[in-house]
Amino acid sequence: MPPAAYDSRQVQIVLQSLRAQGILQPSKARAGEDVVIAYDLDALHTGFDSLVKAFPLHFLHCYAIKAAPMGFILQAAIRAGLGLEAASILEVESALFHGCPPEKIVFDSPAKTYKELDFALSKGIHINANTLEELDRIASILSATSSSTFPPPSIGLRINPLVGAGTIQELSVATATSKFGVPLTLDTSSFSSSSFSCSSSYFSLSNKHKVISYFHKYPWLTGLHIHVGSQGLGMDQLAQGVKVLIALTEEVEESLSKNGGEMERGRRITTLDIGGGLAANYLSNQAMPTHAQLVEVLREAAPSLFVPPPLSSSNRNGSSGSSGSSGSGPCVRVVTEYGRSLTAKTAWLASRVEYAFDNHEEDGREGQREEEGGRGTIGLRTAILHAGADVLLRECYVPGKFYHRFTVHDKDGHLAEVKEGGKEEGQVHARTPRLHNLAGPLCFAGDVIVSGIKLPKVESGDWLVVHDVGGYTLALFSRYCSRAAPAVVGYRIGREGGNEAGMGVTVEVLQGREAGESVLEFWGPRGERER
Ligand SMILES: Cc1ncc(COP(=O)(O)O)c(C=O)c1O
Repeated sequence: MPPAAYDSRQVQIVLQSLRAQGILQPSKARAGEDVVIAYDLDALHTGFDSLVKAFPLHFLHCYAIKAAPMGFILQAAIRAGLGLEAASILEVESALFHGCPPEKIVFDSPAKTYKELDFALSKGIHINANTLEELDRIASILSATSSSTFPPPSIGLRINPLVGAGTIQELSVATATSKFGVPLTLDTSSFSSSSFSCSSSYFSLSNKHKVISYFHKYPWLTGLHIHVGSQGLGMDQLAQGVKVLIALTEEVEESLSKNGGEMERGRRITTLDIGGGLAANYLSNQAMPTHAQLVEVLREAAPSLFVPPPLSSSNRNGSSGSSGSSGSGPCVRVVTEYGRSLTAKTAWLASRVEYAFDNHEEDGREGQREEEGGRGTIGLRTAILHAGADVLLRECYVPGKFYHRFTVHDKDGHLAEVKEGGKEEGQVHARTPRLHNLAGPLCFAGDVIVSGIKLPKVESGDWLVVHDVGGYTLALFSRYCSRAAPAVVGYRIGREGGNEAGMGVTVEVLQGREAGESVLEFWGPRGERER
């Protein structure tokens, strides 16, 4: 698990280094960046390494590209031995471009076209079909193609384990109305809600039988997949999904071995993909739960997942054998697809506060009033930032569900702290507390990252730092109001070359701010004025 990236002294020296390099500048300088996303590269690498170490060797961890699709992150994942989970054909192409071996790429999308399936099959990429109809589509492609044209197919079926929603409905996909996977409705006659047993007749007859019949129909179907959701889900809920997956696997194998011929005596299902969904902690600096803690919970819930397969059928690199062992273990490679837990806490965002002002209250009174007892001033203040619903999209469009912590650094990078019980007394960094709306640069009222948050009084020229933005932030970038995607920098903190905070730092721009030309191209080719 990555160490938490936010450390106010580290942020200070990174901001100061960015200033010294001319990357971040005060607005008067008319140059430099107004906003950057800063990745702690050591935290990122530690996260990938500790994920691999937490699980046994037969697990293949495919980093969920969608969480943060930047090339340097994909390369770091590949270097750490991970595969990649792609949610679109362009993510598949990106994975190949960055050198991920095709057999370590998983293609998940609910809308795969014939063309996309053709491409993935031609490369030997593992495909998780989202529906039974998609399996039929794959069958039609395979039957129309000579078997020597494509590598052997590696196909799984996504099922919906129906373990219910977590605290964020929008990110919960194991619900009855989900668009993801074949839902396995429970057979209430044999199910007791207090236990997830692995008994037969566990699922509704119709869907279970349909899924099993597809394993009989298509001998190339060798995988099952679940993903319960992302954020807002406890480890127990993830484990419940895995239990359902294992129960179905047993039933499929049992049915195949009863009805099958020679080929079906071993295990057909060679890839069990348990998805992602380990939550990140946005409330404090602690990076937890950890992947090691998740392993404990999963081991308890689904011990068979942790039985290593015979050496010949799977190896550390995730290539799986076709079928064939009748040993006591599951004889599978187990795939995971974590994204958020690997990235969220590895980055912070700093935006210059372009303007800050006091709001008037509804009755027209001045917003800023003395708080009783002289402890400071109350009333709302608005800070206008260079990051709003363009980069912190979910935070603005679904207010209240996506929490972040914020800190204020002055124009020189020093942390501004609340001076409780009084006004500034010559101390540069101690400020009176105020309630703030942190608003973005876009032209609509909802472009507010957080409302009514108590912070040291924010002034124009400050750097407002948003914590834990390493996943699902830049990945969701929106072009509304023709915004350019912000620059991304990477830093490493060392002990040598210490500065005023006693630390050395190397900071580099990993990708510059998106060129204005590229933003304008998005709205149509430039150069032709009239049509
Ligand atoms: C199929 C699938 N796998 C993996 C993930 C990654 O989830 P997380 O980033 O929460 O680990 C997602 C996220 O939406 C997903 O849809």
